[in-house]
Amino acid sequence: MKKYHIITFGCQMNEHDSENIAGMLEGMGYEFVADPYEADVVVMNTCSVREHADKRFYGMLGQFKKRRDENKDSRIVCVCGCMPQQPRVQEEIKKSFGWVDVVFGTQTIGDFPRLLNSRIATGKKQFSVTANSPVIPDEKEPKRVYEHKALVNITYGCNNFCTYCIVPYTRGREKSRSLADVVDEVKKLASDGVLEVMLLGQNVNSFKDGEGNDFPTLVRYINEVEGIERIRFMTSNPKDLSDDLIDCFRTCNKLCKHIHLPVQSGSSTVLKRMNRRYDRDRYIEIIDKLKAACPDIAITTDIIVGFPGETEDEFAETLSLVEYVGYDSAFTFIYSPREGTPAAGYTDQIPYDVKHERFERLNGVVNECSLRNNSMLADQTVRVLVDGASRKDENAYSGRTDGFKLVNISSGRDITGQLVDVRITDCKTFSIDGILA
Ligand code: SAH
Ligand code: SF4
Ligand code: F3S
Repeated sequence: MKKYHIITFGCQMNEHDSENIAGMLEGMGYEFVADPYEADVVVMNTCSVREHADKRFYGMLGQFKKRRDENKDSRIVCVCGCMPQQPRVQEEIKKSFGWVDVVFGTQTIGDFPRLLNSRIATGKKQFSVTANSPVIPDEKEPKRVYEHKALVNITYGCNNFCTYCIVPYTRGREKSRSLADVVDEVKKLASDGVLEVMLLGQNVNSFKDGEGNDFPTLVRYINEVEGIERIRFMTSNPKDLSDDLIDCFRTCNKLCKHIHLPVQSGSSTVLKRMNRRYDRDRYIEIIDKLKAACPDIAITTDIIVGFPGETEDEFAETLSLVEYVGYDSAFTFIYSPREGTPAAGYTDQIPYDVKHERFERLNGVVNECSLRNNSMLADQTVRVLVDGASRKDENAYSGRTDGFKLVNISSGRDITGQLVDVRITDCKTFSIDGILA
C-alpha cells in the first residue's frame, strides 16, 4: 500500500483541511505513516499569518530539496494552504522550489485527488490556486484526528480586513454553509460517537446562511442534537458578538462555559488603526455582559504587541485590560509585518527590541492571571473530556475542562475519549494536575 504523511502548520482551519485531505488520500487507497521520509506522498499544509510560520515552511521545504538534490528522494511533495495563495510565494516556489510536484490553495482542496492522479499519470507538475472561489467546499469524508471530538467548519474566508492580517487575502471572502448542512453533519458525528463539536470560522458571529439563519440560531439547533455533550466555537470577533449569543450561555446547557474573544489591543486608538471596528469600552461592555450571564465563564484571547505606532501609553492600556478581564489564558504575538497588508506599509514600525520587551512584560501579566484563575480550581472536582495519553508519562492522560483548561490526569487505565470526573491536586500556569475522582 502507498503511504502518505501530512505536515500541518497554522490554525484549526488548516487542521481540519488536513483531515479532509487525509480523507481524500485514504479514499484513493493511501495509508498514513508517521515518518514523513517513509511516505510516498507528503503534503505540507502551510500558514502565513506571521513570519515565523513562513520561515518554518521554507526551512522544511529546503530539507526536502536537499534530499532530492542528493537523489535520496523520489516521493511526491505537495504544498497547499495559505502560503501558495500569495502571488509572492507562487513566484518564490516557481523560482527556488520548481521541483514541487503539486501546489494547491485553500479554496481548491477538492481538486487534490485529480491533481495527484494527473501528476502520477503524466509526471508533470500540477498547480491549482484560486484567489476567491464562490464555491462552498463539500465536506466529504474527513479522516478525523479524534473520535470523541470534531472540528466543524461553519464559515470560510473573512471580510474584515484587519490591517495587520493576511487571512482575508489567503482565504477569500466570507461564505457560510447552510444551517441544515451543519446540523446534519453534527447529527452524523453524534451517531459516530462524537461528544464535542468545535464550530469553526474566522468570525463565527457573522455566520448567516441563505435562509437568514444566524449564529445563535445555529447554536440552539446544535444544542438539541442528541449525543452531543459539548459545543465550542472559534473565533468570535467582538464587533459582531450579539446579546442573543450572550443569552445562549444562559440557555444552551451544552455550550461550554468558555469564550475565545481576541482583543488584539486594549487601546482604542490602536484598535482603530487595526480596523477592528470596536473600541476598549465596547469590549469591556461585552465582557461585563458575558460575566453577568455566566459568572464562571472562562475567557481567553489573542493579543498583538508592537503594532505600528504603538506608544508606551497605548501598550499600558493593553496591560490594564488584561488585569481587568483576568484572562484564563492568552495567545500573545509580536506584530509581524505581512506583505500586501496595509499595516506592513505604515512608516512607524516599532523596533524589534521594543516589541520584544513589551511582549515579555505582557506575558508576565497574562501568566499571573492564568495562575490566579487556575488556582481557584484547587481541590475541586471537574469534568474532563480526555483527549489521549500524555507523551511524557504512559500512566497520564490529558484532556480539557468545560472552561478549556488543560488537565493532566494520572490513571492506570485508558480513559481516552471519556468524560471523567477529576479531583484537582495541583494548579500551574499552563496546566492542572488531577486524579480520577
Ligand atoms: N479570525 C481570528 C484570527 C485569526 S489569526 C480573529 O479575528 O480573531 C490568529 C491570530 O493571529 C490573530 O488573532 C492575531 O492575534 C494574530 N495575528 C494575525 N496577524 C498577525 C500579524 N501580522 N502579526 C502578529 N500577529 C498576528
Ligand atoms: Fe484576520 Fe481580522 Fe479576519 Fe481575524 S477578523 S481573520 S484577524 S482579518
Ligand atoms: Fe495561518 Fe491561514 Fe490559518 S494564514 S492562521 S493557516 S487561515
